Amino acid sequence: MINDTNVRLGKTRSVIRELFEYGKRRKAEIGEENVYDFSLGNPSVPAPPEVAEELHNIINATDPVLLHGYTSAPGDPRVRQIIANYINRRFSLSLDGDCLYLTCGAAASLTITFNALLNAGDEVISIAPHFPEYKVFVNHAGGVFVPVRAKENTFMMDINAISSAITPRTKAVIINSPNNPSGVVYPESDIIGLCRLLEEKSAAFGTEIYLVSDEPYRELVFDKSIKVPYVMNYYARSIVCYSYSKSLSLPGERIGYIAVNPAMREFADVYAGICGAGRALGFVCAPNLFQQLIAKVYDKTSDISIYKRNRDMLCKALTEMGYQVVPPDGAFYLFVKSPESDAVAFAERAKKFELLLVAGDDFGCPGYVRISYCVSPEMIKRALPAFGALAQSYGI
Ligand SMILES: Cc1ncc(COP(=O)(O)O)c(C=O)c1O
Repeated sequence: MINDTNVRLGKTRSVIRELFEYGKRRKAEIGEENVYDFSLGNPSVPAPPEVAEELHNIINATDPVLLHGYTSAPGDPRVRQIIANYINRRFSLSLDGDCLYLTCGAAASLTITFNALLNAGDEVISIAPHFPEYKVFVNHAGGVFVPVRAKENTFMMDINAISSAITPRTKAVIINSPNNPSGVVYPESDIIGLCRLLEEKSAAFGTEIYLVSDEPYRELVFDKSIKVPYVMNYYARSIVCYSYSKSLSLPGERIGYIAVNPAMREFADVYAGICGAGRALGFVCAPNLFQQLIAKVYDKTSDISIYKRNRDMLCKALTEMGYQVVPPDGAFYLFVKSPESDAVAFAERAKKFELLLVAGDDFGCPGYVRISYCVSPEMIKRALPAFGALAQSYGI
């Protein structure tokens, strides 16, 4: 007998992937331009030009045996130090390259982190709506996933609800801001409130509670006045799981990192745990070519102005049609209230109008659908009449 859980995971696609595959079939049937696919969070803008330039430079200037060879398991020390220096300049911190572990993107960062932190039965609290794979990663690491609903209508964290969910078995709280799927950015006051709560609860229970910040969307914020607080400035037991997938439009290249806050007393053990989990999972030596690339483009971001335009166009049009929308400050998702309580039924009906929307149930938030607007503005324009007809079919 082989492992049941993994067989089940392998046989079921995520709802998002399922819908994406349906979209491919449907496009083949009725034509690409007639299907409005809002399913995937695949960046629709190209990587900044510096990415191609630097890749050429690196390939031309580096000994290929070195360039395509292994680096040390947590990543090239020179690259880690360059990233640490950048974090320090940006957030007034003093990390060393040895606080970082380079990974194949945020998914790897998260699964390594949970495997490092969790003993069997430890609980991880997440704020719903949340990225569906968190549950998979936590369960695989032997943990118990504990979703806590965000505040209705704003999707901001509900500190009282989080407080009630914390138990002596709580090992970590994971946050994601800007958030997939709601697009909200948690303000500094919420981060301070959450960190105070974690300090109080760990003192009361005599436990260590870690704050894990999943940050693939950190750079995707549309208004410069909106700040995304850096958790290490507020809480010693914090770990940042970062990815360049969205900020540099490189999701297929698999590059990101884990940064462990050196301010935590047990830093050496936690960092060793990260290295050990990376080793046990086989996630050592992230792709070297892309490690070297990041050393050159660590401070660049794709042109996100199209995402902002898409957000504005969709929010305005959908609100005028009568949909309930919380305008997002970042990422490239819109979380819209379903006109009927069953969002799965709503998403099914949307398909009849060739609109591919993901029901919020897998995000821990039934009653809503997610729209990924990392698509061409032309597709959104073509899709608006379909959104209108869908609204009319509900009489809104
Ligand atoms: C919130 C969130 N976390 C993690 C990931 C995984 O990102 P990566 O491509 O860097 O593995 C995603 C991808 O969409 C995401 O939305």
